[in-house]
Amino acid sequence: MQFTVAIDGPAAAGKGTLSRAVAEKFGFAHLDTGALYRAVGVKAEAEGLDPVAAARSLTPADLARADLRTLAAGQAASKVAVIPEVRQALLDYQRDFARRAGGAVLDGRDIGTVICPTAEVKLFVTASAEVRAHRRWLELGGDEAQVLAEVRARDERDMNRADAPLKPAEDAVQIDTSDMSIEAAVAAACDLIAKAM
Ligand code: C5P
Repeated sequence: MQFTVAIDGPAAAGKGTLSRAVAEKFGFAHLDTGALYRAVGVKAEAEGLDPVAAARSLTPADLARADLRTLAAGQAASKVAVIPEVRQALLDYQRDFARRAGGAVLDGRDIGTVICPTAEVKLFVTASAEVRAHRRWLELGGDEAQVLAEVRARDERDMNRADAPLKPAEDAVQIDTSDMSIEAAVAAACDLIAKAM
């Protein structure tokens, strides 16, 4: 069976938690595509590589780095993510993953619009910038005002880039998690998927 669930949305909207829960519930494989861009950004900076060369030479070891979840890695990711050749270098891997037998959940920014435009289910998960910054701050600590500024800077870059900007696919179902528990969001997503299967 091929069945693809595309989950897009801005930073810290709850995509990761939602994707993992959905994948577990339906026995689908899960790909966090943000981790690919984070690995490219961090690898390029750490090894002084051109981001396109870093994307083309990405290995499983790069994806297993311990420093991919930091705020700095998120910023580095969104900077390399504006480069069309970087996005191109990561395209086939993501599409192959989406087509694997047994079903797949991919989360990111352009899954429903560019990577998997024919996904059986498309979700666009949002929350206010303040709520998202608060969640990131609970996870990472530091100065909450700075976390909010970084979330806003990343939103700005992700929504306004020319290639594959962050935006809901026309046929995506939007889930706003600002005032919703993760359990309620997971239940809503599972309901939609079960109906589409
Ligand atoms: O989802 P995450 O916060 O890990 O993504 C890090 C950055 O990678 C995003 O801010 C975005 O710039 C980029 N990204 C992207 N397309 C994706 C996934 C992530 O451009 N499908």
